[in-house]
Amino acid sequence: MKVSISASILDCDFLRLEAELRAITDAGIDAIHLDIMDGHFVPNLSFGLPIARAVRQTVRVPIYVHLMVINPETLIDKFAPYADFVIFHIEATEKPADCINRIINANCAPGIALNPDTPVDKIQPFLSQIQNVLIMSVYPGFGGQQFISESLGRIRRVREIREQNSLNYTISVDGGVGPTNAGKIIQAGADILVAGSAIFKSTDYAHTIRQLKCLTP
Ligand code: DX5
Ligand code: ZN
Repeated sequence: MKVSISASILDCDFLRLEAELRAITDAGIDAIHLDIMDGHFVPNLSFGLPIARAVRQTVRVPIYVHLMVINPETLIDKFAPYADFVIFHIEATEKPADCINRIINANCAPGIALNPDTPVDKIQPFLSQIQNVLIMSVYPGFGGQQFISESLGRIRRVREIREQNSLNYTISVDGGVGPTNAGKIIQAGADILVAGSAIFKSTDYAHTIRQLKCLTP
């Protein structure tokens, strides 16, 4: 499968949200990634439903809602109308099966995110029911952090489990992804690279997206 690039809008210019969304879609972005933070699961707040609704009204590409919130089961139904994929953290809930069911019942595809310290084994029981695994390659909460290189082994492991068991989920990598490490991340087995600051702090979005796909130096 060819690698896809998903833009985390956390670092975009929110005063010009519509123009930013048009610019990245014109630049060939494959998906949009919305980072929802609650100030409890992660030590930061981001944005919520009004922004998710505005993004849904503006773009046609798939939207991945990344819930960095405690008890995600309470918020799934609220975000689902604006999402194609809803991703919750395995560390944030005691009811992962309930989360998956709620996401499916809301007509979205379920995904599970894993913090850098969480063993991959923790999500093993759910892998046959989900469509995306999101490997956090930074500690969640902030954009612009440095990629944790141990994540490469975790990507390989999740890929290996998929091949060995003929499973279907895609593998996303989120945090500190940029043109200098994209090649290694793709080689380790990622299908979707999530990038925030690497795209929005660049001057030519289309060029950066091609760099992330390793199509240009
Ligand atoms: C981190 C978020 C990421 C992050 C991506 O908590 O989940 O999506 O903001 O931003 P960069 O690409 O700047 O690391
Ligand atoms: Zn994210």
